[in-house]
Amino acid sequence: MVIQWFPGHMAKATREVKEKLKLVDIVFELVDARCPLSSHNMYLDEVVKDKKKIIIFNKIDLCDRTETAKWKNYFEKKGYTVVYTDAKNGNNLNKVIDKAKEELAEKIARQVAKGIKPRAIRSMVIGVPNVGKSTFINKLIKKNVANTANKPGVTKKQQWLKLNKDIELLDTPGILMPKFDNQEIGKKLSLIGSIKDDITPLDDVSLYLIELLKQSYLENMNNLYKIDVTADDENVFIMEKIADKRFKKIGGDYDYDYDSTIKLLIQDFRTQKFGLITLDNYNDMINEEVSNEN
Ligand code: G4P
Repeated sequence: MVIQWFPGHMAKATREVKEKLKLVDIVFELVDARCPLSSHNMYLDEVVKDKKKIIIFNKIDLCDRTETAKWKNYFEKKGYTVVYTDAKNGNNLNKVIDKAKEELAEKIARQVAKGIKPRAIRSMVIGVPNVGKSTFINKLIKKNVANTANKPGVTKKQQWLKLNKDIELLDTPGILMPKFDNQEIGKKLSLIGSIKDDITPLDDVSLYLIELLKQSYLENMNNLYKIDVTADDENVFIMEKIADKRFKKIGGDYDYDYDSTIKLLIQDFRTQKFGLITLDNYNDMINEEVSNEN
C-alpha cells in the first residue's frame, strides 16, 4: 500500500491560499525543523511568485541541531530567509517580525520616497498540517497584542490581527500540502502528524522509522529499547527485537505482536522518546536530489 494523495483536496487548498495571497506582502512558511525539506512546499514559489517569503523552522526544540543547520544553510543558499522558532514556548517569534520588516524595508522606502504613506505590512502563515501554525499565530499575538478578542460586529472572515503598528497578520493560516511523488516524504509527513494515520500504511512508516534511526540514531534506538542491533540488521529483525522486549508473543515462538510494536514506534517518535532527531538527512537527500535530476 502506498500513501495516497488526493489532487482534488490539494487543488482546493492551493486555490484558497492563492486567493488569500493576493492580500499580503509577505508569507511565513512554517516547516517542521525535523524535516525542513520534506515539510517544505517546493511548489510554493510558483504560487507565491513575487511575494517575499520567510521560512520558519518551527519545533526547533525537537530537532538535531547539527543536521538541521545544514538545511538552514541549504535554504539560505537558495535565497530564502530562515528563522528558527519554538512556537510552543514562544521562543524567537519576534525575530520573524524583525526579519519581515527587513525584507520589506526597501519597498517601504520606495513608497516613502514617492510621498506615499506606507500602510502596515500584511502577512500570512502557511504550511502543512501540524507544523505549529495555529500555535505560532496564537503565541505571536499574545506576545504582541494585549487584547485580541474579536470585537462585536467585526466579521470573522479574513480578520487582520495587528502585531504592532507596522505589521498585520491574517488570522487563519493557509494549509498547503506538498505534491509528493516520493513515498519517503509521505512517510516523514506521516511521522510528524501531517497526514492522517487512517490513510497511512503505518507498518511501512514504522519500518521506515527504524531504517532512519538505524542509519543516523542507532544508539538512541538501542538505548530506548535496551536492544543491541547494528546498522547491518534487517528492519523487520529489529522490529521483532523491539517486540520481544516490550510485548508478549501472541501465539507461538515467532508470533510477535507487530501491531503493538508499530504503534509503539510511532508513538515514541511523536513523544520524542528517541531524543533530538532530524528525519531529513542532508547528505542522503541531497545526493538523492542530484541523482533524481540525472
Ligand atoms: P497546525 O496549526 O500547523 O496544524 O499546528 P498546531 O499549531 O495545531 O500544532 C500542532 C502540535 O505541535 C501541537 O501539539 C502544538 O503544541 C505543537 N507545537 C507547535 N509548535 C511547537 C514547537 O515549536 N515545539 C514543539 N515541541 N511543539 C510545537 P499537540 O500535541 O497537538 O497539542 P498540545 O500537546 O500542545 O496540547
